[in-house]
Amino acid sequence: MTPGSSAEKPAGTASAGPGNSFVWTRRHLLGLEDLSAEELLYIFRTAENLQEISTRSVKKAPALRGRVMVNLFFEDSTRTRMSFTLAAQRLAADVLDFSAARSSVTKGESLRDTVRNIEAMGVDTFIIRHPAAGAPHAVAQYSRCCVINAGDGQHEHPTQGLIDIFTIRERKGRIEGLNVVIVGDIAHSRVARSNFWGLTRLGARVTFVGPTTLVPRAFERLGARISHDLDEALKDADVVNMLRIQRERMTSQEFPSTEEYVRLFGLTRERLARAKPDILVMHPGPINRGVELASDVADGPNSSILRQVSNGLAIRMAVLFLVNQANSQDGAGPPG
Ligand code: CP
Repeated sequence: MTPGSSAEKPAGTASAGPGNSFVWTRRHLLGLEDLSAEELLYIFRTAENLQEISTRSVKKAPALRGRVMVNLFFEDSTRTRMSFTLAAQRLAADVLDFSAARSSVTKGESLRDTVRNIEAMGVDTFIIRHPAAGAPHAVAQYSRCCVINAGDGQHEHPTQGLIDIFTIRERKGRIEGLNVVIVGDIAHSRVARSNFWGLTRLGARVTFVGPTTLVPRAFERLGARISHDLDEALKDADVVNMLRIQRERMTSQEFPSTEEYVRLFGLTRERLARAKPDILVMHPGPINRGVELASDVADGPNSSILRQVSNGLAIRMAVLFLVNQANSQDGAGPPG
């Protein structure tokens, strides 16, 4: 299986940088915590190869023709759901869309029964977003399909982590030795966790910044720096990744007021002016403009926010391609 025409370099067999002998073997992508540097770089190399498809007049390659992907979303999404759909379509796969609120989950059907019934229709890949940490891992235990975690509770959002790291590498030319500051609601953020695992595996230094209530000190034991002073943390930052306050996951009031949060942790033009001139400003979206990020910073010259979204397509094409290729090779294959 190759991602493009026969004249193209097969992404699944291309060198990932570390060496030509590397072979991708995972049929699930559940998180970045257990991915090696070699695997991360291999996904990036595959994504770089696949980017070309999106520049063609007919933006399609037959790499996953005949395969069926299912968006199994139990939480709302704009970017992740749409870019997985488009990524699958670019590789000529068929896509089924499931939304919990319009499904038989509302009648009491369990996740397991939902998965087993959809699987019985002859599908190949589940892309799962679920409010419970570990839900995609559970599905991977009992399903013959590939499973991609599209965000599980406060645990991981691996493709968003890959997108962010890929974008940093594209803009800065490297990851090793960079100072990456991640600001905001770290406690509830699966994006923060996936970024942390991937960035540190590739040699970046990660500093988490936010109110004491939203930055768990446990991250220090894992090698992160913790700060509650954004101005201080920005002094040597190469990248600042701003996160949304996830009020939907909070059970109590974690800071006195939005005004105080903006004063201490909002990224404004004035604050940015004191950072390195080439600092990269990131946000995984959705943005609460005027809270974590001022509008003129979100849309300003340092911002890579829309580039992150564009890169999401290539990263998700790469992940879909690699897990399906591994599933074909280990004989698990599609049912039927
Ligand atoms: N970044 C992200 O996961 O966005 P969505 O919730 O819109 O998918």
